[in-house]
Amino acid sequence: MSTTQPTKTILRLELPTDPRWVNIAEKNIEDILVDHAYCEQKAATSGISLIVKYPDKTRLVEEMTDLVAEEWSHFERVLAELKKRGYSLGRNRPDEYVVQLTKHIRKGDKRERQLMDHLLVNALIEARSCERFKLLWKNIQDEGLQKFYYELMVSEAGHYVSFVKLAKEYMPVEEVDARLKELLAIEAEIIRNLEPRPDRMH
Ligand SMILES: [Fe+2]
Ligand SMILES: [Fe+2]
Repeated sequence: MSTTQPTKTILRLELPTDPRWVNIAEKNIEDILVDHAYCEQKAATSGISLIVKYPDKTRLVEEMTDLVAEEWSHFERVLAELKKRGYSLGRNRPDEYVVQLTKHIRKGDKRERQLMDHLLVNALIEARSCERFKLLWKNIQDEGLQKFYYELMVSEAGHYVSFVKLAKEYMPVEEVDARLKELLAIEAEIIRNLEPRPDRMH
């Protein structure tokens, strides 16, 4: 393993993606790009939802404003990769991984605790996406896409860190660390039980 291991050193994911995923993913590059475009759209949409739900949290509003712009620029870049290859956006399909993970945001709880859950779930989606981009960057044959996935890997790793930091801004550090540990275990369990999809990012 190389030293550039965001999955191990920063992201703390407990279960690595089966490395064979990338080989089959490359054969489905149109589906992967379409699914990826919607991942970026959902990341932007989720940032907007947080702004609308917590307008009183100034730091959150500022950081989400930057994040939404960045995710939207990722969306534009994926659209351009589709266009380059003569593909169109295609339709959105439900992301079972995100659906299952989002169920662990505790509803009806203290407002800050709910916010913490939301931020940590977003952090884990960023972490898993980053891990998948790393696999694509290291293994895909297409040189243009290698560079593209490398840049996205770096960007999403930064988002993971920002989400965890933001959670610590609004809730005690120990509580955030404990909840992150629980959610990391939950995330690994979800990945373990999901049927691997060579045409999806997750
Ligand atoms: Fe993104
Ligand atoms: Fe992101």
